[in-house]
Amino acid sequence: MRIGFFGCGNMGAALAEGFKKNHPGVEMYFFTPSKTKAQQLAEKTGGHFVSFLVDMPKDLDWYVLGFKPQSLSEFTFQFNENAKILSVLAGTGIDTLEKKFQVKNIARLMPNTPSSLGMGANLFYAGFETGEFKDYLRALGKLFTMKSEAELDAITAFSGSGPALIFEYARLFEKHLTAIAGSNPEGREIITQTFLGSAKLMESAIAQGVSFETLREQVTSKKGVTFEALQILEKNNLENIMGGAFTAAYKRTLEIKKGI
Ligand SMILES: NC(=O)c1ccc[n+]([C@@H]2O[C@H](COP(=O)([O-])OP(=O)(O)OC[C@H]3O[C@@H](n4cnc5c(N)ncnc54)[C@H](OP(=O)(O)O)[C@@H]3O)[C@@H](O)[C@H]2O)c1
Repeated sequence: MRIGFFGCGNMGAALAEGFKKNHPGVEMYFFTPSKTKAQQLAEKTGGHFVSFLVDMPKDLDWYVLGFKPQSLSEFTFQFNENAKILSVLAGTGIDTLEKKFQVKNIARLMPNTPSSLGMGANLFYAGFETGEFKDYLRALGKLFTMKSEAELDAITAFSGSGPALIFEYARLFEKHLTAIAGSNPEGREIITQTFLGSAKLMESAIAQGVSFETLREQVTSKKGVTFEALQILEKNNLENIMGGAFTAAYKRTLEIKKGI
């Protein structure tokens, strides 16, 4: 497969390096305005460095738009009308890209920050047959195929914003660990391992058809230590707070898509 990249930052590099690792025969072409990152990525993956936009071949199997949405207005490239494009631009709808490029086959990928480690929850939507390319995208972690673009936008609040919400939760664990137990050089590691181990338990719960609620109940005995902690969360209505946060994120996704 032959793939062209416009943009070689965090996501472009994660995709290209993953493609090369899982599909060594891939042939890749890289362009960035300041040249350096494209050159570095081409060297690292044994791909082609493209100095000028006009030199990007027009007959590649796929093109990856890997730049920030703010760069879209300045980006111009004359794709062939049957070109296949993968956009990782957050908050930019397929309709906007179709209008700009006059191309029908445009797919969207919504990665998240763990994608750069190959551990992402990646949302994918394409309204056309994408064949083996989907398999390439598994280089970023798990790939979840959405039924519609609207579904991708709705779940973005959880997978895309999810890591930041979890990091905020981790920060609070650390802050309160220090407040109660005093400064501990291994405090962050204890918290990280707790998150990692819990995520593993969640993974096995899915395989066994066990709910997250059951997992929670399994470690909560009435009048026990965890029970006391959970009571505080319930009294202060964490459920509502999280509901508000996710709703706000979803609302913002829709606003950004509309250019507000
Ligand atoms: N990072 C994440 O976790 C994440 C998650 C979900 C979605 N995304 C989406 O992924 C996209 C890329 O994010 P990122 O974190 O990889 O960004 P990044 O690290 O800032 O990289 C952006 C790249 O785009 C290049 N670029 C800028 N203007 C360009 C143009 N006109 N034509 C071609 N390339 C251009 C830059 O080139 P120079 O090197 O020359 O500056 C740079 O290589 C964004 O749209 C973002 O919304 C990212």
